[in-house]
Amino acid sequence: MKALETQGISKGFAGNIGVKRIQALSDLNLQIDQGEVFGFLGPNGAGKSTSIKILLNLIYPDSGRATIMGKDVKEKEARRRVGYLPENPYFYDYLSADELLWFAGRVSGIDKEELKIRADMLLHKVNLQKARSRHIRTYSKGMVQRAGLAMALIHNPDIIILDEPMSGLDPLGRKMVGDLILDLKSQGKTVFFSSHILTDIERFCDRVGIIVGGELQLMDTLDNLLKNNATLEDIFLKVVETAGGGNEA
Ligand SMILES: Nc1ncnc2c1ncn2[C@@H]1O[C@H](COP(=O)(O)OP(=O)(O)OP(=O)(O)O)[C@@H](O)[C@H]1O
Ligand SMILES: [Mg+2]
Repeated sequence: MKALETQGISKGFAGNIGVKRIQALSDLNLQIDQGEVFGFLGPNGAGKSTSIKILLNLIYPDSGRATIMGKDVKEKEARRRVGYLPENPYFYDYLSADELLWFAGRVSGIDKEELKIRADMLLHKVNLQKARSRHIRTYSKGMVQRAGLAMALIHNPDIIILDEPMSGLDPLGRKMVGDLILDLKSQGKTVFFSSHILTDIERFCDRVGIIVGGELQLMDTLDNLLKNNATLEDIFLKVVETAGGGNEA
């Protein structure tokens, strides 16, 4: 059984008056194995976040189907074992990271004892122990991002979907996210994430997909792609150029 799957997903967005409709995704077919770390790449406007939102049932495709562990994403049960970090995490400003994790954990049905242990462990991992009692409105961008990462993992999900988890992080934060992803992998979790930071992807992905203009252009193992001393950057630039650039171009 695949951890994540999209079958023939297409999605368009209506433009403003006088602006033509945007075809964000065209016939997207993705299959992500259990235990795999998958990097989803593509230029700005390529359709990465749209795909992710469809996988989480936050927006709906015009056609096609998305499943998590074989279940349609429309089923609540399918989403129960998934952790998600949105592209621009936004939280109630007057909560502290502690309260955020408490709230998220209780909503996910974790008992109080376990929640305390997991919150301590995650706040330590994302390096927010010192700031854990401060309101999130006093956090820097990278700190908000790290709080979001802890929140995505609070219920110990099996499948973790991260939309640009390194965005806004300093090199230490990026390394922390990389280590966290490798840690999740070693626990047999499935990680699906989008990123523009190709060197990070080279470090810890099993497989990558490159999407341009809503169409998947390439999907292969990192080992295969890099076997002829090519860099992911070379490959990425070539694929994007061959496909004629992104939606925003
Ligand atoms: N709510 C919306 N209304 C109209 N157009 C949208 C909407 N959401 C996304 N789009 C368009 O769909 C296309 C794909 O956007 P998406 O956010 O999926 O790209 P992305 O690959 O995540 O880009 P980035 O790397 O910049 O985050 C873009 O052309 C974008 O302008
Ligand atoms: Mg995006």
